Amino acid sequence: MKTFQKLISITKIYKLIKRKLRVFFLISLFCTFFYLSLPKDLNALEVNSGGNLFKHNCAGCHMNGGNIIRRSKNLKISSLKRNGIDNPEAIAKIARQGIGIMSGYEDELGENGDQIVANWVWEQAQKAWVQE
Ligand code: HEC
Repeated sequence: MKTFQKLISITKIYKLIKRKLRVFFLISLFCTFFYLSLPKDLNALEVNSGGNLFKHNCAGCHMNGGNIIRRSKNLKISSLKRNGIDNPEAIAKIARQGIGIMSGYEDELGENGDQIVANWVWEQAQKAWVQE
C-alpha cells in the first residue's frame, strides 16, 4: 500500500515538473525569438531601403559605385576624397541638388531619402563596394 501511494505522488510530481518545464521552455523560446527578430529586422529594413533607393535612382549611372558617364567621378572612397566629398552629408547634398552635369534627385528620393541613400553610399565606399 505504501509503495503504491509513493508511486502516485511521484507521478504527480513528475507531471507537475513536466508542465512547468514546458511553460518555461515556451517562454524562453518566445523570448529568444523576440530578441533575435527585432533589432535584426530593423537593421535589414534600413540597409534595404538605402540599397533600394540607390538601385532605383543611382545605379543606372553608378553601378557598383562606378560612373558610366564620367569615369573619374565615381563613388569609390579615393575619388570621393579627391573631390572633397568626405562625409555622408556631402553625398546627400549631391543626391538632392546634383553636381556638374548630374542632375538632382530630390523629388525621386522623397523625405530623408537623400540622407538614407547617402549613408548607404558612404558605407559602401568604406567597404570598397564589396558586397557581403
Ligand atoms: C544619369 C546618370 C546619373 C545618375 C542617375 C546619378 N548620377 Fe551621380 N553623377 C553622375 C555624373 C555624370 C557625375 C559627375 C558630375 C560632374 O562632375 O560633372 C556624378 C557624380 C556624382 C557624385 C560625385 C562623385 C565624385 O567622385 O566626385 C556623387 C557623390 C554622386 N554622383 C552620387 C549620386 C547619387 C547618390 C545618385 C542617386 C540619387 C546619383 N549620383 C545618380 C551621373 C549620375
